[in-house]
Amino acid sequence: MAEIRPIALRNGVLELIDQRRLPSVETVIRCRGARETARAINRMVVRGAPAIGVAAAFGIALEAARFRKSRLLEDYDAASSLLLASRPTAVNLAWALSCLRPLAVAAAEAGMTPARLSRRLVSQARRMLIDDVAANRAIGEHGAKLIRRRGPLVTHCNAGALATAGYGTAVGVIRRAWELDNSREVYAGETRPYLQGSRLTAWEFTKLGIPVTLMTDSMAGRLFQSRAIAAVVVGTDRTAANGDVANKVGTYPLAVLARRHGVPFFVAAPTSSIDLDCPHGDAIPIEERDASEVTHVAGRRVAADGVKVFNPAFDVTPAELVTAIITEQGVVRGNYVTGLRRVVSRAQSARAAVTKAALSS
Ligand code: MRU
Repeated sequence: MAEIRPIALRNGVLELIDQRRLPSVETVIRCRGARETARAINRMVVRGAPAIGVAAAFGIALEAARFRKSRLLEDYDAASSLLLASRPTAVNLAWALSCLRPLAVAAAEAGMTPARLSRRLVSQARRMLIDDVAANRAIGEHGAKLIRRRGPLVTHCNAGALATAGYGTAVGVIRRAWELDNSREVYAGETRPYLQGSRLTAWEFTKLGIPVTLMTDSMAGRLFQSRAIAAVVVGTDRTAANGDVANKVGTYPLAVLARRHGVPFFVAAPTSSIDLDCPHGDAIPIEERDASEVTHVAGRRVAADGVKVFNPAFDVTPAELVTAIITEQGVVRGNYVTGLRRVVSRAQSARAAVTKAALSS
């Protein structure tokens, strides 16, 4: 099966699989700069924390060709702010833009042309894309080793290839676990209101040939009562320094259920989704989305006219309910404060070497 790659640079243009139209229509949206990319992120053409980080990197890299030579850094920061405003919860956006900023600083100091800065940034964005897939594969390896019980796995939202540069985080763990034991099956929550589970995750597992059963989110309690679940595996948009995990709304109830039923609850988190500057989950900004996502289904109103709507896109699972956080740098459990610092510092050293090489190229 050809791997799903939601983000690609073709002929100098960013191509994003339009995830709003899956699974019925497979088409791409093209972006030529920061404004178009920010709009694509805001409108959910591309979604999933690592995917929006990598898309933003390409967006700013293409935009750089239009920066003013005398104001490279100011223009970088303005384009960055535009992209950062597109969605607030996933920290990967800020992570990607801050990883690239040293190149803009160096370019401004050296009086580089915008075209040259753009080429440098594009090459770093490509590297980020490759590294993200590699990180997901490493997460898959580490995570699959943690799943020791027999029985079905449960996931929520879409933390698959579509939510990343490829392969997936939580889906990556499940893929690898299934390769090691293909008697396994997966239950995917449909993920109201945006239906990432039914539209995207079910599509990905079906393509992979991994047995998947779809349920509405409210059916999870009955599932835990009726089947011996091996583990819950989810992704994250931002994990705070103390191990509190923001992920798609509906994740926290699954963690509560897992604890009640003695089932391990694993979070697949690339270090790009860990925010050490955020002390705990209460400090994570939670995106509130349009009421129409709840009042309408497939474009048709289903709710009573005039009703008020609560539509947070994410919730926060407290660290105490998380059995382990699986990163590309290894598994963290127990003391999240020190463990997360350790893995982030390893990742930062690797990234610093990449940036140094880019600066001398
Ligand atoms: O609103 P979305 O679809 O961007 O939310 C995505 C999620 O919550 C994912 O679980 C998270 O970004 C991790 S993706 C590897």
